[in-house]
Amino acid sequence: MEPIETVYHSNFKRGAYSFYQSIRHQDPIFPMSKQYNHTSWLITRYDDVKELLKSQSFIKDQSKLFSPAEREKNPNDMEINIFQHMMLDVDPPDHTRLRRLVQPFFNPKSIRAMEPRIQTVADTLIEEMRHKDGPLDLIDDFAFPLPIIVISELLGVPAEDRNSFRQWSNTIVAAADEFEESFIEDVQAFSTYLTKLFEERRNNPQDDLISKLLQAEEEGEKLHTQELYSMVVLLIIAGHETTVNLIANTMYALFQHPDQLKQLKEDHSFIESAIEEGLRFYSPVDFSTARWAGEDMSFRGKEIKRGDFVVASLSSANRDEAKFEAADTFDITRKDNQHLAFGLGIHFCLGAPLARLEGKIALQTLFTAFPYIHLAPSAQPKWKEIFLLRGLEKLEVELT
Ligand code: HEM
Repeated sequence: MEPIETVYHSNFKRGAYSFYQSIRHQDPIFPMSKQYNHTSWLITRYDDVKELLKSQSFIKDQSKLFSPAEREKNPNDMEINIFQHMMLDVDPPDHTRLRRLVQPFFNPKSIRAMEPRIQTVADTLIEEMRHKDGPLDLIDDFAFPLPIIVISELLGVPAEDRNSFRQWSNTIVAAADEFEESFIEDVQAFSTYLTKLFEERRNNPQDDLISKLLQAEEEGEKLHTQELYSMVVLLIIAGHETTVNLIANTMYALFQHPDQLKQLKEDHSFIESAIEEGLRFYSPVDFSTARWAGEDMSFRGKEIKRGDFVVASLSSANRDEAKFEAADTFDITRKDNQHLAFGLGIHFCLGAPLARLEGKIALQTLFTAFPYIHLAPSAQPKWKEIFLLRGLEKLEVELT
């Protein structure tokens, strides 16, 4: 079996699905690498990924594996670390406390109430696309601004600062692959920006999520300052990076399957199942669902040691032929589509109802406004070479 580093460096995203398929057959609990006596495993089958995500033997917080003395050897030298104690990276009881604070803002009822506003944002973007001179990039002109405006408004962050968030969050997401020089600078800029915003909002509370979080922070036990920063950074990044890809990847899959594009244009009642199929077929989150083994254990016949790193590939699970009929076929009429694109268990995506609604409104609005939308003949869609997510660099389209 080819080592994963080789596959990665030879344009991993393009070859990922055949690579996953061969691993699923040959070695589904795949030892990717070994370092300092610890193995990093890649889990590729649907049932195994499901079991991993539900299991309490795998944890998120690596620091729990260290003794207090070891922790002191690696002090945190940043005044505010915007990644520390992030809800996504902690375990109960901290996880339960943090999730409880934000859950009411993301439950289906709260999200339904946002529908008219999301529609207005989509309509405004469509009007701008209609009047734009020159080539249209569905990502820059539509799929990116829609979710970033929505999450910014929900949080109470000025949406006009969205290009800064985009730069900061791109650097942060890319850092999982390669550490860019601008990383420290961008993280500092993000942190300074939030400090100013929090100060302003403390003096002038609004009816937004940041004001609610600041109130919880003042009450002490509910939210520590560090957690406040990390929560807002998480919501900004998770709230747009993935949804941009949901919209663009689904549109790309449709462009690749003209018969289904035609079917959808003629009958919008397939939009919701097309979104679910887009989530399964080109899952926006790939490699970022990782855990640490909290104890020595045997997992599907492999000996996993406490402290081993375990990555669940949602992309692979969602293409597992043992679970999905014709798994490599894009089919907007697929029934009972139990994909794992939003994860599972206690860390199941908080924003799933929002992402689904944004996806639905996006496609409905696009196809209503531009029934002839198609991929520009000169377009050469290319997957971004980042490990964590599956997203395109550009998606050039024509409207007539
Ligand atoms: C968690 C995917 C949109 C906020 C997750 C996880 C996945 C995921 C797979 C679980 C990670 C793990 O178990 O390690 C997606 C996809 C999206 C999307 C595919 C869009 C298509 C959103 C949106 C938000 C959001 C719009 C909005 C705010 C979060 C948060 C968590 C999370 C806060 C952490 C939950 C926790 O730890 O309890 N997401 N997400 N996501 N997502 Fe999403």
